[in-house]
Amino acid sequence: MSVEYYAFLLTDRLRIESFLRSIAATVKPGDRVLEVGCGIATYGLAAVRAGAACVDAIDFNPVAIALAREMGVEKQNVRLIEKRVEEVELPERADVVLFEDFSCFGVAPGLRALLAHVQGRLARPGARYIPSAVELLAAPVDAPIDAVGPEDSAWLPFSDEALSLLRKRFLNVPTSRRLEPTHLAGSACVLHRLDLSEPLPKRSVHSATTHAGRTTQATGIAGWMRLELPGGASIETAPGTKFAWGQMFFPFETPLPCRPGEPLEISVETIWGPDSKALLWRWRLHGATGAREGCTLNSLPGGAALLRRGSPEFVPRPSSRKEAVAALCQAVDGTRNLSEIARIVYNKCTPRFSSELEALDFVLDALSCSTGLIEDRP
Ligand SMILES: C[S@@+](CC[C@H](N)C(=O)[O-])C[C@H]1O[C@@H](n2cnc3c(N)ncnc32)[C@H](O)[C@@H]1O
Repeated sequence: MSVEYYAFLLTDRLRIESFLRSIAATVKPGDRVLEVGCGIATYGLAAVRAGAACVDAIDFNPVAIALAREMGVEKQNVRLIEKRVEEVELPERADVVLFEDFSCFGVAPGLRALLAHVQGRLARPGARYIPSAVELLAAPVDAPIDAVGPEDSAWLPFSDEALSLLRKRFLNVPTSRRLEPTHLAGSACVLHRLDLSEPLPKRSVHSATTHAGRTTQATGIAGWMRLELPGGASIETAPGTKFAWGQMFFPFETPLPCRPGEPLEISVETIWGPDSKALLWRWRLHGATGAREGCTLNSLPGGAALLRRGSPEFVPRPSSRKEAVAALCQAVDGTRNLSEIARIVYNKCTPRFSSELEALDFVLDALSCSTGLIEDRP
């Protein structure tokens, strides 16, 4: 993220003023405050003004930290830390945590691991969080779907099947969009309330029933959030609002016909994968004429097979190169010379090498000085 991004964030006056009021009402003199993903530490400075004894402001983006430093934030008693939040340890835990990096639907890929670290290592039990909670809201929408490829595709060197597969992949990815109130095809409902001081479950399914507002074809589900700020205020990022956050658009491959007053069940599922950043989405709209759904699994070119590789239960099979490296590592015992090692590797991995000479080339290459696999002891 660049300087423009942080300058742009400052233009969102309603959001910043709401946070500043909440910080003034929540931070008590003598508090230790932690600003997670601080950017230029706007909120950290507000905490100093509210009387905080100490403010630690963390961001992994060197641009943000350098900019905050240039803007004199450290001279005003904010300690800037340029690191991933998950790698930070503090001498004492914080009484107040400031955090606003929620993507546009309250749930972002790295959020679960980040919150777990903050709750378990950086904040004291019972710490106050600003915001304290995030409500996830959703509604059916009939916003136009972006075209996938050109309307007239006959000139492209792809078959119709190939292009429809590309469309399927594309329409199974939720995207950030700026939706208008006119795109809402039904009323909004609250899907879930996420308490910032509680751990996020690995898997969660949230459902709620709403009603269609008109005769239309629902093209997807819009998701947005309401941040609850201690002190009484809240920020809701509904379609039509002009916050820095837009809305999340969960598209369908084919639209769902709806009639006014018809009950519609919205359900959104999130599953965090083994990698702290991996997040799988599944979404569904169920009405009188049927259901439409989408899933980020369907957007992956490798599909489920690719995802399985990230599971702790996955049993990796070594490639023939890996087998040769394993044979090599066993053969290097500090007594054998290169010819002997190459012979052992050749005998164990004959289908890979057509001759001992080829195995020797592999051994020389693998044991070249730069690999760190051997130590040249006197
Ligand atoms: C929405 S911006 C918040 C900016 C800040 N509140 C401001 O007004 O300038 C989120 C910030 O969180 C930082 N960030 C996101 N994930 C992080 C992580 N795991 N560790 C450290 N910083 C992170 C990003 O670099 C970004 O600057």
